[in-house]
Amino acid sequence: MAGFVGEMRRSGNGLLLRASVIAAVGGLLFGYDTGVISGALLFIKSDLNASAVAQEWIVSSLLLGAMLGALISGYLADKISRKWTKVISGSIYVVGALGCALSISVPMLIGFRFLLGVSVGTASFVAPLYISEVSPPRVRGGLVSFNQLAVTAGILLAYIVNFVFQGFSNNWRWMLGFGVIPGAVLAIGMLTVPHTPRWLVQQGRGEEAHKVLERLREGVKGAQVEQEIQDIKEANDAESATKVRDLLRPEIRPLLLIGLGLAVFQQFVGINTVIYYAPTILSDTGLTKSTSITQTLFVGLTNLIFTVIAVLLIDRLGRRKLLLTGTVGLTLSLVLLAVYFSSGALQQHAGYLALVGLLLYIASFAIGLGPVFWLMISEIYPMGIRSKAMSVATLVNWGANFLVAATFLSLGQVITRQGTFYLYAGLGVLAFLFFLKKVPETNDRSLENIQSDLMVKDSPRD
Ligand code: BGC
Repeated sequence: MAGFVGEMRRSGNGLLLRASVIAAVGGLLFGYDTGVISGALLFIKSDLNASAVAQEWIVSSLLLGAMLGALISGYLADKISRKWTKVISGSIYVVGALGCALSISVPMLIGFRFLLGVSVGTASFVAPLYISEVSPPRVRGGLVSFNQLAVTAGILLAYIVNFVFQGFSNNWRWMLGFGVIPGAVLAIGMLTVPHTPRWLVQQGRGEEAHKVLERLREGVKGAQVEQEIQDIKEANDAESATKVRDLLRPEIRPLLLIGLGLAVFQQFVGINTVIYYAPTILSDTGLTKSTSITQTLFVGLTNLIFTVIAVLLIDRLGRRKLLLTGTVGLTLSLVLLAVYFSSGALQQHAGYLALVGLLLYIASFAIGLGPVFWLMISEIYPMGIRSKAMSVATLVNWGANFLVAATFLSLGQVITRQGTFYLYAGLGVLAFLFFLKKVPETNDRSLENIQSDLMVKDSPRD
């Protein structure tokens, strides 16, 4: 475990660490919003007189906004830079969080949740994009996974904030308004870090890129920095694609498929049903509301702890091992949950099994599919197309998230709770087979190297 920390000491420096941490605050915004709404909704319902449909819209308007954010920011990240896109994302978040906190009607709240979504959708992939482009290969996995770590910290923070503010008057306004703080930290913090060297090279600002890289690699030999900048320039010269339709070029298509497969399976194994509905699942086992809420804190904490473990291991064991092991683990825990919900005897005598199943599930997700999806999509695409490809994969991820969130409760009514978990387990098996066959190892290789290996080099360009 000292590997990541030791490597950071050797190959990194203060600026690299600071830039990665600040960029990862984007992940915190993402997680905070995912976690906060379930608690806030309980109070919004009565305060704003929100019907069931209105509540669904309050939750899902954010997901729709995130899809839009993911779509436009692929373009923005190239046009105005990764850095400025993140400054804007943080600023929009501040406005959105304030607007939500001050909302006096359901439509106003839905509107501001949509705006928040635009910010979250942007932040969700520009953060891993930025970090992967400033990181040296040996610690890139751990550093990019700071973002997923921040997502899980955001979810846990939201659970805690919900817990703390529930007794206050205007509680839901405080819960939603609290987001102003991380939003401002992101917007202001990003002003203090440099552009990524890869974006600068893409803009023809080679000299500046060289200077930034020198600062990011302080303590590394000059020749090595020289080599890195050379590789970036060569990759940039060889790769002039900039249009979205270039994603369909024959040599890019397999990479697109990997990103989309990871995006869809990350959601189709049902992660957000656990994040959004853990208290509901637990209270269905006969626990009281407050015990369910307390146990949900365990779910949040387990998510965070296993993501820390992933950060420490991902550059040592590689992405594939963690991804495959995690997928097996989460599939087995889904089967455990399904068996539990189909057996009256287990529910009567072994109520703790539901919590065990949920914790095993979240730990397995946190060690594999959680961080690996965001990391992989920041690694496998060539420079000219990277931000657009990531934006498409992110859009599909949010779309799949929306679909699962919108169908979980009604699926339970149609095919029963256990049937739903069997369904997710079946998707877990498919995910495993897909990852086994299609997902490459990208550990300890430069982005340029990964890109040149993965593409079908001889395919004609149009
Ligand atoms: C997923 C989110 C999920 C979170 C849970 C992320 O990687 O994209 O949808 O809520 O992990 O930790």
